[in-house]
Amino acid sequence: MEAGARVWVSDPDGDDAWILSEVKTRSDTDLKMFQISNPSNTFVRPRVRENLEDGSEVQELKYEGIELANNALSEAEKAEGKDDDMITLPHLHEPAILHAIGGRFDEGKIYTWTGPVLIAVNPFERLALYTDKILEVYRQEGLLRSQGMNPSGTAKLGPHIYAIADLSYRQMMAPERKSQAILISGESGAGKTESTKIVMRYLTTLGTAGTDNVDDGEISIMDRVMQSNPILEAFGNAKTLRNDNSSRFGKFIELGFSRGGHLLGAKIQTYLLEKVRLGSHASGERNYHIFYQLLRGANDKQKKKYGFHDGDTGGLELAQYYHLTGQGGAPDLREFTDEAGLKYTVEGMTNLGWDEAKANTVLSLVAGLLHLGQIQFVGVEKDGQEISQVSNENVVSLAAELLGVDKDKLRTALTVRILKVRGTETEILLPPEKSIDSRDALAKTIYGALFLWIVQEVNDSVIWKNDSDVRSSVGVLDIFGFECFPTNSFEQLCINYTNESLQQQFNKFIFKMEQIEYEAEKISWDFISFPDNQDCLDVIQSRPTGILAMLDDECKLGNRGNDKNWADRLYKQYIPNKGQEESDNSRFSATPIMKSRSKFCVKHFAGRVEYTATTGFLEKNKDEIPITAEKLLESADSWLIKDIYTVQKAETNESATSSNEGKPAKQKTVSQQFKEQLARLM
Ligand SMILES: Nc1ncnc2c1ncn2[C@@H]1O[C@H](COP(=O)(O)OP(=O)(O)OP(=O)(O)O)[C@@H](O)[C@H]1O
Ligand SMILES: [Mg+2]
Repeated sequence: MEAGARVWVSDPDGDDAWILSEVKTRSDTDLKMFQISNPSNTFVRPRVRENLEDGSEVQELKYEGIELANNALSEAEKAEGKDDDMITLPHLHEPAILHAIGGRFDEGKIYTWTGPVLIAVNPFERLALYTDKILEVYRQEGLLRSQGMNPSGTAKLGPHIYAIADLSYRQMMAPERKSQAILISGESGAGKTESTKIVMRYLTTLGTAGTDNVDDGEISIMDRVMQSNPILEAFGNAKTLRNDNSSRFGKFIELGFSRGGHLLGAKIQTYLLEKVRLGSHASGERNYHIFYQLLRGANDKQKKKYGFHDGDTGGLELAQYYHLTGQGGAPDLREFTDEAGLKYTVEGMTNLGWDEAKANTVLSLVAGLLHLGQIQFVGVEKDGQEISQVSNENVVSLAAELLGVDKDKLRTALTVRILKVRGTETEILLPPEKSIDSRDALAKTIYGALFLWIVQEVNDSVIWKNDSDVRSSVGVLDIFGFECFPTNSFEQLCINYTNESLQQQFNKFIFKMEQIEYEAEKISWDFISFPDNQDCLDVIQSRPTGILAMLDDECKLGNRGNDKNWADRLYKQYIPNKGQEESDNSRFSATPIMKSRSKFCVKHFAGRVEYTATTGFLEKNKDEIPITAEKLLESADSWLIKDIYTVQKAETNESATSSNEGKPAKQKTVSQQFKEQLARLM
């Protein structure tokens, strides 16, 4: 870093995180620089000092917040694709990466390689990057490459998500026929789901090439697989402040291919739908798309059938009026209307092979949930206690009819709680605020079960016929990104745990494998020190003292367990000494103030997240269906309620193993189900 060198200076308070500057003078103690585009703006940065254990200080060669800049490429070099892969940059650090990606983005190039990893920047506009013609060019290049031929005459194609999809297909088609996985990660709104769909289109196109794309006059497998997206998105995506079409569940799609590389079908696994959204959503956000699609897209006949009366709303638009849909102001979406959304959803249903009656039953149930959310309660006195009474009986009737359940049992499910102690049931009449909780909990249960059932229906439609025909597969993972909100609860812990596990896989595969390869080839290689996060995973998942295992233990205590006790036991486990605020491995911490508020902090690979134990961790983990709700669902007239309830039970009950054979199935906690799913995924 001599005078005249170009460097990046970190500027945490400025508009730009890093400022391109030139070194003016260098001394043993500091570096003086000026901003290249504005030389009157100058910076001074001290040389880094490090304290040694013996108390002495050494000065490092580095200066604080300074990185060497790469030389700018000429237009000719760029045209040759010299900036396509960041691995080729002489200096690879945060400002170099941001500068390289930003510069390309300004030229309309949203994709950049970093070795085998593709970085995509969301353009937030539909660019002509995915046309049939471009797909064909990548397909041709991939084909020639796989045959050991270089596509003559054409320049190497630039980085593109099609290239990732192509590579996985060709690798899968190599003689060993090894199955592949594509991991797509990024923050909410980064473009994971869109990228997943682009990858799916590429792979399904290659997998159906040479066939006439029609199976016995039915909808082709490619179309069925692609059509699974709108229906899953209608029921599993919602508008959030960050993304109009935010996936509120994780998804792993496995595309199965024959030995000859033909697409045979797909298998979809979903993870942890965000059910709390049923009860409440923030201002500017929305509930699941399907509710708005139905309210805004229903024709007059449907409106009548589903009991949507514009006259009841006091002048409000239907979607703004209903409790389930109106809490955030029911904003429109940026890219398409809800009316159009309903059309896509219904088309998706038809393509799943549903007849009109089946589709109508599902839509009725959605309408029933909207009316369920409208049920109100008043407090009346009984034996000196305030108990709740439904104040709009006609809405109970309408909700019950549309859901296909018994009206009296529905009322009971909302106003009565049954406690079972040693086989004896005791009825407790609930006060109004508890009835509201029961109402929202019932909506969550029914919707959660409906979603699982829809995933099963989609799977039945897209799954391959015989497992033995499937020679290999490409899996695409579109998973919720790392989350950190002002208040973090059970959902964030599960999501961040997933990301922590994925990060480890990523470390293992990319860094560890790469280093082994370099060593084998005796290429000199500066070992990148990457942070290993196994210790953080241990804090979350290990038995018997991990955060989740201790949560399960607390849940086993039944009524005696509670969120605060659980937090206290975590403190005892991880920071047992007086005055200790950080666990020995520094992944778990809690200050005295945090402890007094039942909070704890986990230092994840992506940053610290403060969790609040008293946000219903135990209840969310148990996810129990109240006895009155069970009685309601078990006795329902509707085949759909019966079906979704069966699917829900199968998902949550422990499978009969030799040790528990004959005993009634025990319900698994959500964290147990989640851990198992994650283990299978890895
Ligand atoms: N390649 C792209 N071309 C054009 N628009 C895009 C592209 N990728 C994403 N978008 C736009 O950004 C929006 C958000 O993308 P997407 O839903 O894929 O994000 P996500 O990463 O899945 O977020 P979440 O974690 O919230 O589900 C899309 O609805 C679309 O408008
Ligand atoms: Mg998404």
